[in-house]
Amino acid sequence: MSVYGDYIKSVIRTVRNWPEPGVNFRDITPLLQNSAAFRKLIDSFVHRYQELEIDAIAAIDARGFIIGAPLAYELGCSFVPVRKKGKLPFKTISETYKLEYGESTVELHSDAFRPKDRILIVDDLIATGGTMLAAAKLIERSGGLVVETAGIIDLPELGGSKRIREAGHSVFAVCS
Ligand code: PRP
Ligand code: HPA
Repeated sequence: MSVYGDYIKSVIRTVRNWPEPGVNFRDITPLLQNSAAFRKLIDSFVHRYQELEIDAIAAIDARGFIIGAPLAYELGCSFVPVRKKGKLPFKTISETYKLEYGESTVELHSDAFRPKDRILIVDDLIATGGTMLAAAKLIERSGGLVVETAGIIDLPELGGSKRIREAGHSVFAVCS
């Protein structure tokens, strides 16, 4: 957790029973509306990664883009989108993974990285970890090295961060 973890957590809203009964949705829009909070959030990531020689941020569609773009700008590295199926125009590689009901597919452009590039994967939230793990597989298949997987929020009761660590990746979350 970051030094700003408790503060960042305090500006994330929980919307009960959305998008369906029984789900407590962690809504980051109040955090994004608060410029001081958003700056502290991006600074937390910059502080953690500025000495780690990151070559590219792989940001996950869609809310991962919101933190991935300013972070890539600050770190002076490339920004690479990991997108939902059918959104990337050039040659892609894809990974399909299980959801609670059904499945989902994420894609990456085949020329997104150079071999051995040091990649940081970012998203807003880690729930079951399926999305992050699929992104990590895409990066490894394309020859990149996953330095860490990072989110604003970890939901540890859903087991995702544990699953990602068991698959051999490091996990960082600003709050949980
Ligand atoms: C949410 C969230 C993560 C993912 C986490 O995205 O932004 O990407 O789910 O869940 P997991 O750890 O169980 O894989 P969503 O699919 O809702 O997409 P969106 O950002 O386009 O709304
Ligand atoms: N918020 C945002 N995305 C999510 C959530 C949540 O609470 N749970 C699964 N994906």
